[in-house]
Amino acid sequence: MAKMWAGRFEKEENKEVNDFNSSISFDHKMYEHDILGSIAHAHMLGSTNIISKEDSELIVKTLLEILEDIKSGRLEFDMEAEDIHMFNEAELTKRIGEVGKRLHTARSRNDQVALDIRMYLRSRVNDTVSNIKKLIKTVINLAEANKETIMPGYTHLQRAQPITFANHMLAYAFMLLRDIDRFNDAKERMNYSPLGSCALAGTTYPIDRNMVAKELKFNGIVKNSLDGVSDRDFVLELASDASISMMHLSRLSEEIIMWCSWEFKFIELDDSYSTGSSIMPQKKNPDITELIRGKTGRVYGDLITLLTMLKGLPLAYNKDMQEDKEAIFDSLDTLNLCLDIIRPMLETMKVNKENMKLAAQKGFINATDLADYLVKKGMAFRSAYKISGSIVAYCISNNFVLETLPLEKYKEYSELFTEDLYQYIDLKECTFKRTSEGASSIKSVESQIKYVKERL
Ligand code: ARG
Repeated sequence: MAKMWAGRFEKEENKEVNDFNSSISFDHKMYEHDILGSIAHAHMLGSTNIISKEDSELIVKTLLEILEDIKSGRLEFDMEAEDIHMFNEAELTKRIGEVGKRLHTARSRNDQVALDIRMYLRSRVNDTVSNIKKLIKTVINLAEANKETIMPGYTHLQRAQPITFANHMLAYAFMLLRDIDRFNDAKERMNYSPLGSCALAGTTYPIDRNMVAKELKFNGIVKNSLDGVSDRDFVLELASDASISMMHLSRLSEEIIMWCSWEFKFIELDDSYSTGSSIMPQKKNPDITELIRGKTGRVYGDLITLLTMLKGLPLAYNKDMQEDKEAIFDSLDTLNLCLDIIRPMLETMKVNKENMKLAAQKGFINATDLADYLVKKGMAFRSAYKISGSIVAYCISNNFVLETLPLEKYKEYSELFTEDLYQYIDLKECTFKRTSEGASSIKSVESQIKYVKERL
């Protein structure tokens, strides 16, 4: 195909160079945004009399036809084209000749690509946010079904204090809410139109940048023409938002991998969301969660690719920036793929309430409560803490748990211990008397659920 810039060149481009340069194999995804951007540009060119109204109308009508033809599969992308912008423009010119050649007045591919990627990513953010919302709903359902499911809470992966599975899952609901905030926040910041920056220096034509911005539902225009074509901060922001979101999914995945091991047996994954081993018949493997954990590294890689690609670029546009697309597309594709699979996996997994409770009974996770008991009776916390520690050590060496150690033994450590201590360190009691905001008591959990639901 003859190049748009053939006039300046004496030789034909060589095939390898053409392939190397070409981005249509991945930027064709932005075909609709490219066409809508061109339509807005054509409207503006017509209304400012930069081109005639008739030409503007014909361009718009033909672009809409091209859009329809691509959508219906009647028109296929030409992989020889350099990019989606060149493809759409060449198709337009093929259909309406000279008039089509007027579309690129007061525009450059530099501001065109900057526009397209903002529009494309804007809609990807919307999809991603609604996908995260769906996952939050699943997490909330799990919390609602497990308000009374006692489990050990961990620090350093050592049993620490009793919590409910509901409260544990709700922690993820809050992480995911912040993910949504981050994506929406980035969307607001990127929602400004660069079109009219032209190659970098603006233009001598009397364009109306705000008109284009308004038609394309931007909050306004990018104020500086060089910034308009060279800024990819929003790509970085989205890639870091996706990385943080993947990190959250990865932490949840890691917990699920542990919980479904025979060492924990807190949950059982549904057969349809597990895989077997080719050699060990007893195995039921949590491949999905392992892949999510693995793919997190890949999304971090996309972020590093983008940061590194941009760090040495002089203003304004440089072709290096074409590398932004595969990285950010991969990052968002991967996140959404993981969101789509983790949700039904959580919905179908079985929560083994009995095993969670058994684990909670075994780890001295009421030792803090034992100390608190003495504090309530007047002892200073540090002294109470020391006595509780000695009692735990005694229990461990003599095969007791706090619940089974006789009262006489307790009294050897402090006269403050009386019969009511057993009630005080009862596991259920310890879990549900944690009524502070954010804690595991039924009321605290319900108010968290209410908050998350309102936010959705
Ligand atoms: N395909 C290019 C990209 O994705 C846009 C075209 C701008 N190219 C140029 N040589 N000025 O960045």
